[in-house]
Amino acid sequence: MNTPMDKDTHYNPLDVLATTVSQCQACELACTRTQTVFADGNASAKLLIIGEAPGQQEDETGTPFVGRAGKLLKQLMEMVGIHRSTDVYIANILKCRPPNNRKPLPAEVVACKGFLIQQIQLVQPKLLILAGSTAVEGILGIKTPISKIRGQLIESPFGMPAMPIFHPSYLLRNPIASPEKPKGLTLADLSLCKAYVSV
Ligand code: URA
Repeated sequence: MNTPMDKDTHYNPLDVLATTVSQCQACELACTRTQTVFADGNASAKLLIIGEAPGQQEDETGTPFVGRAGKLLKQLMEMVGIHRSTDVYIANILKCRPPNNRKPLPAEVVACKGFLIQQIQLVQPKLLILAGSTAVEGILGIKTPISKIRGQLIESPFGMPAMPIFHPSYLLRNPIASPEKPKGLTLADLSLCKAYVSV
């Protein structure tokens, strides 16, 4: 028998997870965050981009990759025909901002990673894009420099491959876009990502 709740409530596991995350007290970042930053984009997308952690603007808005790095990422994606609102789902290794944007501590990654794993399992993308070393280490468990593995399709433990790319914050510090420089290489990598999910 249907109850009024059944009729009116669309049970969405990602929304339920987002609510759980918003109440998380599993590490000390719960004391310093303004709010948790769960995800953005299309939960049915074939591409799932994983970054490091929210920065100041993400902490203030509750949306990942909205600061300078996020704007650059959006611009690079657009240049190869990947649109942020329709073609990607975006999340981070950590859901809370580390004070002064310091690198996530190993214990914070351990405390938070289960949420990202559930996001991957619920979204079921065709490809994970790992932006920067924290995402690579968190998902693939390797410390290989990005410059050595970027642009490669690497098997992940989640049933779909992962492609490491330079973190957009690094590209802000290395803005030359010629083909052999990090920014040009990232455009090529994003193009490959698009081609991989378009077949
Ligand atoms: N903003 C994010 O949401 N993640 C990053 O890794 C960097 C900036």
